[in-house]
Amino acid sequence: MTDSIEIPIGGRAAGCPFAPVPELYEAQKDEELRRVTVPSPMLGAFDAVVVTRYEDVKNVLADDRLRMGGSMPYQAGNLLSYDGPEHTRLRRMLTASFTARRAREQRPQIEEVVTAALDEVEKAGPGADLVQLFCTPIPTLVICELLGVPYADREEFQRRTAIALDFSNSREVQMEKAAEMEAYMAGLVAGHREEPGDNVLGRVVREYGDQLTDSELAGIGNMLLIAGHETIANTLASSIALLLQHPDQLAVVRDEPEAVDGAVEELLRYVVPATILPRQASGDIPVRDQEIKEGERVVASVLAANRDLGASGEDLDRLDVRRPVQRHLTFGFGPHQCLGQQLARMELRVALPALFNRFPELRLAVAPEELDYRTNALVFGVNALPVTW
Ligand code: HEM
Repeated sequence: MTDSIEIPIGGRAAGCPFAPVPELYEAQKDEELRRVTVPSPMLGAFDAVVVTRYEDVKNVLADDRLRMGGSMPYQAGNLLSYDGPEHTRLRRMLTASFTARRAREQRPQIEEVVTAALDEVEKAGPGADLVQLFCTPIPTLVICELLGVPYADREEFQRRTAIALDFSNSREVQMEKAAEMEAYMAGLVAGHREEPGDNVLGRVVREYGDQLTDSELAGIGNMLLIAGHETIANTLASSIALLLQHPDQLAVVRDEPEAVDGAVEELLRYVVPATILPRQASGDIPVRDQEIKEGERVVASVLAANRDLGASGEDLDRLDVRRPVQRHLTFGFGPHQCLGQQLARMELRVALPALFNRFPELRLAVAPEELDYRTNALVFGVNALPVTW
């Protein structure tokens, strides 16, 4: 039976964009799993079991009967389009490029990209929009490094990415830019086939090129762009928006280098850019004393799970960058757990303190209530972040 309640795709409370809607807290307290209607811009409205408790989300995401199948449009080479052994085979080709060690090695490149973005913010002067000048260019340029995009192409690559991934553009404009991007990726793949570069895409071509088609390789490139761009840009923007409203916590990130890693974990727990993870059950899946039935759609609410108290005794509705690191599922769990999470952490650990150190007097140039949050987008964030200093 489906309840009559609808849970908005982001599941975020009106007036407090970082908090879940009350229905999600109620569902979390309820012993019985809730079946709800989820309106989705991509999939149309669909009925689903909503899973909200931390342990339940973790258990169902780890269950191989829970499939991506049909939850996302299919794209060759995109890990989120595959399940089971096909997924494992493709993922194994990429894991060595995304270890914690690899992320540490990338730190100098990330620092360079961050410094260049900060120079642009300074050039623009007070009133600058950090989304446009800081949060968006950083992940794009980091991905250029992963894909081996030549320096001469980077400005155009950035422009095309911004348009292709800006959902406020018309569908035609987005499709046109996405097609251009696909053609560009095909060109990059052809280049790596001739002379594989020293980067993620080049390494995959060198080591596994004979097992992958050109469209799978281009799809891997596109996946990295999509998975690693919007998520970082929006985490940066939401984290900055939050910290500017909590100056005492901002000071910790700015002045205490040893506290930065913990602060980043707390921001990831609290911000939750990928609010829900959609799936479908390919068999009956036990959840405590109940079952998700074969064929049912499932929505794992990371937003609710990250505030599930469990035995912690902490007030998890509050942002506290100084608290001991709390468990969170912001990078998902199970076979599809975020491949780029170590790189993501490194980008945030470098970018946030660098911003607040370059502009120690940084503050919002608009009233906090004027910030336009993307509460109903697939990736939560804020559309613009005008600042002054
Ligand atoms: C703060 C930043 C990020 C967040 C919050 C995030 C979150 C996530 C989540 C929740 C998933 C699992 C999706 C699901 O289970 O349905 C995922 C998967 C993935 N992420 Fe990230 N991500 C981030 C950054 C990145 C970066 C920087 C990259 C690489 C450049 C990346 C690459 C991927 C890939 C390839 C997958 C698919 C893995 C698979 O299906 O096996 N992500 N990410």
